Amino acid sequence: MGVLLHFFTYKKNILHVEDVPISELAEIYGTPIYIYSYKTLIRHYKAYDDSFKYHPHLICFALKANTNRALLTVFAKEGAGADVVSGGELYRALMAGISPKKIVYAGVGKTAVEIEYAIRQGILMFNVESEQELAEIDRIAGICNMKAPIALRVNPDIDPMTHPYISTGLKKNKFGIPYETAIESYKFAASLKNIEIIGIHKHIGSQIVNLAPFMDAFNRLLHLVDMLKEDGISIKYLDIGGGLGIQYLDEIPPHPTELAKEFKPLLQDRDLIIILEPGRTMVGNAGVLITKVLYIKNGYDRDFIIVDAGMNDLARPAMYGAYHHIMPVAKKKNRQEVFADIVGPICESGDFLGKERQIPEVKQGEFVAVMSAGAYGYTMSSNYNSRPRPAEVLVNGSEHFLIRQRETYEDLVKGEMVPEFLKG
Ligand code: LLP
Repeated sequence: MGVLLHFFTYKKNILHVEDVPISELAEIYGTPIYIYSYKTLIRHYKAYDDSFKYHPHLICFALKANTNRALLTVFAKEGAGADVVSGGELYRALMAGISPKKIVYAGVGKTAVEIEYAIRQGILMFNVESEQELAEIDRIAGICNMKAPIALRVNPDIDPMTHPYISTGLKKNKFGIPYETAIESYKFAASLKNIEIIGIHKHIGSQIVNLAPFMDAFNRLLHLVDMLKEDGISIKYLDIGGGLGIQYLDEIPPHPTELAKEFKPLLQDRDLIIILEPGRTMVGNAGVLITKVLYIKNGYDRDFIIVDAGMNDLARPAMYGAYHHIMPVAKKKNRQEVFADIVGPICESGDFLGKERQIPEVKQGEFVAVMSAGAYGYTMSSNYNSRPRPAEVLVNGSEHFLIRQRETYEDLVKGEMVPEFLKG
């Protein structure tokens, strides 16, 4: 048990991903660059799959954490399903070969076009977030002459004890249907001709390092399942969402085995199929962002290590004050520790990857690794300051593969048009 392990280790003072020195990859592909470990992805998927072996289950990888087609293909080949939150994510999941029958679709603002696309593709179920959305799905399913399978996303009003921006299961959050009125909403769903009720869903937040809120929410859902049964509504799929945390610094989040162990007695004698929607735990510690030191300057009370990756490449530190461990790719002898901010080239004071860090001195031209960047790294990147987005590489053993090209300046302006009257 313990935390999920990964394959990023120092060998002879050089940080390696599996068997490949990261410095080599940085030279070949340039920086900034996201690098992923295939073996880590497989290990994390199996950690979930093996833990829940005792009960029928489906692991739906939450695409929002990472949508690279190569990574999705890794999971598809392992038999994973997908949790999607937009038509675009659904498109990507299908393209990677994930069976529509293993795809669940959440999100408070599904459009008519997205709903029709998902119905026609025959997804496993919509995780519905409001009664108006239910009515809309019913209307569109009617037009398609099909039945739409649904679960209601219930907001269990449980504090996941995590960052407020990534809490989703509190009364004040926009997500799901209130726990108190869930039964009524199910009855409403049952009255709709083109809706087929098959499940119940919750997702209370992300980077959760405590099992208690998970268990509370799970118990609340089981209670609803029992109440619904009394009303003649039977639930086949119980979708507990994602949210388990990973180790960024010194957190000790529960391992999937622990979650599975806690659930076991509660699932016995129930013929519910359990769905999990892990995102961060699957990919977070399977990816790093490698960046090059451009300049060092001495500030008033700290050094500034200016690197070639910024908040546009990795938004989490700027957005949530999130901690990502930062370390030199090559450990050098006789280097003192320095007190520094590791900052990007973007014109904002919020553009930092690490603040007030005590780290071994690094020099101009050397590479540093921003750890645990595989989840919500590339997917939240942008072109702010007209910076082309980084390349992505997948390593398997001693082999490495470019899985996304670095964007070019041409990519930046692709799709932009100048009206005729401005020309000439
Ligand atoms: N299912 C649903 C319905 C979700 O909304 C999410 C994440 C997940 C599953 C996956 O949760 P995970 O296992 O990754 O915790 N950008 C933020 C995280 C936002 C999470 C949003 N929902 C971050 O960088 O920390």
